[in-house]
Amino acid sequence: MPEVAFAGRSNVGKSSLLNTLWGRRGLARTSSTPGRTRTINFYLLEGAYYFVDLPGYGFAKVPLRMRREWAKGLEDYFRLRRNLRGVVVVMDARHGPTALDHQMFEWLKELGIEAVPVFTKVDKASQKEKVQARRRFEQWGLSPDEPLFFSARTGEGKDRLWSRLWRLLKAEAARLKE
Ligand code: GTP
Ligand code: MG
Repeated sequence: MPEVAFAGRSNVGKSSLLNTLWGRRGLARTSSTPGRTRTINFYLLEGAYYFVDLPGYGFAKVPLRMRREWAKGLEDYFRLRRNLRGVVVVMDARHGPTALDHQMFEWLKELGIEAVPVFTKVDKASQKEKVQARRRFEQWGLSPDEPLFFSARTGEGKDRLWSRLWRLLKAEAARLKE
């Protein structure tokens, strides 16, 4: 079955985004403490596709050995998961893309995996911050895709993200044919 994964910095709001998309609070566990999601979590939805909640990157308090294990686990996941149709890269609308997000986009490009850029927490971002976030995203040339603005709190951007995800899930499985 096709699947879409959700990646991004620790505490950026990946699990909350997933819950808002699916319209259920407790689907993925969320927390105000960074490093809440520590495993790769597969959610089978409508018996037809998976949403995959990934542990966040860039959480400094995690011991180095554990960080390495996570990185290895994620690398294996991205490399080997043949039914992965795309990865939603979740960023904070208030801070814009970070160096680690940059690496994430590069990595996905290298692996030939589609990236869907999303700025979340727009309910907390000023107009100026949003403009800056988008500008840096474009300057860095992170992805040909327009970034979507989203809020798990207000549901802003939910419909647009869903239609983007549907296109991915329904698309030909390019990687399966390799
Ligand atoms: P890890 O699993 O630790 O990597 O975190 P995560 O990226 O899954 O973040 P999570 O969804 O657990 O949310 C982190 C914190 O941000 C929680 O306190 C959420 O309530 C808050 N949050 C998430 N999305 C939004 C949003 O759109 N708006 C606001 N205001 N807060 C949000
Ligand atoms: Mg999480």
